[in-house]
Amino acid sequence: MCIIPDMKWTVGKLIKRATEILRERGIKSARLDAELLLAHSLGFKDRIKLYTEFERPLTEEEVENYRQLIKRRAKGEPVAYLTGEKEFFGFTFKVQKGVLIPRPETELLVEVVYDYLKDKEDKTIVDVGTGSGCIILTLYKLLGDKHRYIGTDISSIALKVANENKELLGCNNVEIVKMDLLKEINYPVDVIVSNPPYIPFGDKKLDKEVLKYEPAVALFGGKSGLEIVERLIGESAKKLSSNGFFAIEIGKGQSKGVKKLLEKAGFRNIKLHKDLAGVERVISAERG
Ligand SMILES: C[S@@+](CC[C@H](N)C(=O)[O-])C[C@H]1O[C@@H](n2cnc3c(N)ncnc32)[C@H](O)[C@@H]1O
Repeated sequence: MCIIPDMKWTVGKLIKRATEILRERGIKSARLDAELLLAHSLGFKDRIKLYTEFERPLTEEEVENYRQLIKRRAKGEPVAYLTGEKEFFGFTFKVQKGVLIPRPETELLVEVVYDYLKDKEDKTIVDVGTGSGCIILTLYKLLGDKHRYIGTDISSIALKVANENKELLGCNNVEIVKMDLLKEINYPVDVIVSNPPYIPFGDKKLDKEVLKYEPAVALFGGKSGLEIVERLIGESAKKLSSNGFFAIEIGKGQSKGVKKLLEKAGFRNIKLHKDLAGVERVISAERG
């Protein structure tokens, strides 16, 4: 790792050197990552501050702390695990290893559910596989106390992080509960939302960084990729109130298969929603 310890480093020079190192390791977002990690390392809330302090000399300790972060990033560790946070829908979510890093594509799922709920009141919403809590906590921030909100997950780390985010974002009225899909839900549910694990085992297209660092329980949906989705659709058909709303994120190329599963389970008004890249990323439906 060639950030020479006794050289006179300034903010600007260090960013330049770290960017070169990350680029040499094939990291596409090298400059952005170098800036995000230096801003985090120096305790800056906003990376723009780096530009107002471009000529600022750094202490040996500051250089060493940053060197350690760049070393880990160069090996492929995601920036969000190094900084411990990720932006989603304009809110900052705490993340750590063992919990999926919220993805920009998932914002579409929030938009679809928000559109359905915005003019309604007194609905019970369950987010299955809540992870960091990014979906259910964002819905609460957007819609407030007029509905009831529940986030479930099977992973203890996810539940811990979702609870921390609930505190940080001031979402006291959101319940976070440990559960296998919808197993223990014994009350009427009006909306089921989920970004379930949907990647097939052994998917060759899966990014190596994701495979190495993100939790398998959050990624894989069995051999076909749709094992959890199929279970979730079956359980949702039983637990949703009549006319209840169902919306989940799906992977590229899965829309046909998931549509069939929904039809078989008796859902109607099935709609596909495309993300910014034109991929059918979200599927929504109503219970018949
Ligand atoms: C793709 S991640 C989504 C996390 C978060 N909702 C998001 O969008 O960033 C899937 C989540 O489902 C959880 N999960 C996996 N199997 C589950 C099950 N049988 N019951 C409940 N949650 C499950 C995982 O722990 C993980 O947090």
